[in-house]
Amino acid sequence: MNNNYSIQYSRYLEEINTYLEEFSSQGKYSNSSSVFESVRYSLLGGGKRIRPVLALAVGTILGLSTQDVLPFAAAVEMIHTYSLIHDDLPDMDDDDLRRGRPSNHIVFGNATAILAGDALQAMAFESVLSGSGDLNYTNAALFLAESAGLSGMVGGQGIDVEFSSGTLELDQLIDMHMLKTGAIMEAAIVGPMHLCRTSGDLYAKLENYARYVGLAFQIRDDILDVEGDVSVLGKETNRDVDLSKNTFVSLLGLEESKRYLAECTENAVKIAKSIGDEGWFLAEFAKEGQTRVK
Ligand code: IPE
Ligand code: IPE
Ligand code: MG
Ligand code: MG
Ligand code: MG
Repeated sequence: MNNNYSIQYSRYLEEINTYLEEFSSQGKYSNSSSVFESVRYSLLGGGKRIRPVLALAVGTILGLSTQDVLPFAAAVEMIHTYSLIHDDLPDMDDDDLRRGRPSNHIVFGNATAILAGDALQAMAFESVLSGSGDLNYTNAALFLAESAGLSGMVGGQGIDVEFSSGTLELDQLIDMHMLKTGAIMEAAIVGPMHLCRTSGDLYAKLENYARYVGLAFQIRDDILDVEGDVSVLGKETNRDVDLSKNTFVSLLGLEESKRYLAECTENAVKIAKSIGDEGWFLAEFAKEGQTRVK
């Protein structure tokens, strides 16, 4: 791994973890129910934090300070965490292990897990809309809402659930992946541009980069479900086969999935490099994604 990349990643990670710890410990959130504990169990219990890291990295390209981007970056992670809690529920993917620990509903029960997801979604918007200063947090919040909801992640999860008993064509599978995983990745990568109302060439590049990286991320996730090591991955493997999920591997096989992943990665790296020297972190991120083991 590129040394500068891992150093920069760790810096971003620390800032995000500090923000999430402080934000979620606000007095107004603690009450006598266990939802507070359940929210913090999932939000602070590991995770790679790739989405907020990407948001901070794009913020750096745009000349924004980490402090200015954090309310938005953390919001993306809260939406993502809520999506994982709900994704693991018995009526969805029925997964008992997440981020190397028992899934939220295993510890707190289904009802509390559902409420923790609901709470995190609302907290995400509290976070981004609490941003102060000259930046356009409202605009970024709107973009995040669109990426998270029916036109984005939830829309993709809907296809995932509904078509578990049937087979999708390749273009439908790509659409599903772009929504269920790509939309939140795109929110993280393009969202910071909404904070400063910029558009044009860089916007189009980031949008394109996000599409390749988002798709690549879910293809790798599908591959890891087959090839991954549970103790490293922090979640069970072979779940997609058990649930007859539509994945890249089920449709194209491992080898062709890897070829497709390599193609998406190459395109993403090319776009990141076209941004200039400032695109280095995004280029490294895309490269890492091709061979990631967790
Ligand atoms: C897992 O996301 C779910 C997908 C969208 C594939 P991550 O692999 O980013 O999970 P964490 O946040 O690191 O646990
Ligand atoms: C999940 O996709 C995508 C979202 C949570 C939105 P998966 O169901 O493949 O994610 P994992 O494999 O459980 O992390
Ligand atoms: Mg799922
Ligand atoms: Mg799942
Ligand atoms: Mg998966």
